[in-house]
Amino acid sequence: MVHGAFHGNADIDAARSAILDRLGGFPEPRGLTRRTAMVTELLARPHDVAALARRRGALWYQLDRVPECGELRRFAEAIGTPIPEHDPAVRSRVREEVVLEMRNSRESPADVSSEPFSLRSLRLHTEASRRPAADRPDLIVLACVRAPAPGHGLQTLLVSSASVLAGLTDAQLDVLRALTLDDAADTPILRREAGRDVLSFRDFTGDVGWRCADPSVSAEDVTSALIALLLGCYREGHVRGVRWTRAGLLLFDNAQFLHGRTRGSGAEEGDRWLRRIRVICGR
Ligand SMILES: [Fe+2]
Repeated sequence: MVHGAFHGNADIDAARSAILDRLGGFPEPRGLTRRTAMVTELLARPHDVAALARRRGALWYQLDRVPECGELRRFAEAIGTPIPEHDPAVRSRVREEVVLEMRNSRESPADVSSEPFSLRSLRLHTEASRRPAADRPDLIVLACVRAPAPGHGLQTLLVSSASVLAGLTDAQLDVLRALTLDDAADTPILRREAGRDVLSFRDFTGDVGWRCADPSVSAEDVTSALIALLLGCYREGHVRGVRWTRAGLLLFDNAQFLHGRTRGSGAEEGDRWLRRIRVICGR
């Protein structure tokens, strides 16, 4: 096992902030189909909806109304196992044990532990990347109660893992298959699962330690692979955004997309309120 540390560089900082600090909108994910449906229709055929979302990677519905937290829980229980929100730091924001109320407004707290509820940007990541692979959600479902006005940021970002990986060399992909970041859980950054490459990655703050299972890999190889990965994540054409509207519902596959969020403007019309539920589907 080879160990080392990665320090980032100015190119990565510039690429990241060019994306995350932008208040204007990003284009929607390629192939994202916008459908209209009633909440009752969604609840009547949860398996079809979940299967379509996983096949396409992401799915959008404009619903007739905002789904209640209990309805989101019922939907999630029908398609798999919703992950309980156990973190004591978010307890006051949890409904039905599994629905997280994510409200971001001018009155939001500024401390780091409240980051998801603040106006700060969120760096690209795989959900629950620090958890064991078996505990990571397959699908993330977000329902919009209040949409920020266009141009005020807090836009949910989606980056296709496949598009990022396509820009890496075979040698860099091999490095990622052997590489685990010290802040990560039990899997390397890239692994094969059910015949496909699965990226599990969280953009980090500051330096990050790593360990590499392939002794033939040098520290320079690791640096090169991580720079390519991060620049690919924040490449202009790779980053897609969600245009929230009230009663919009987004489902996306955690193995097919990294996600993040642009910063908020701090203006009242930029306030945002999403309901989130994370689901482990049948494996
Ligand atoms: Fe997340």
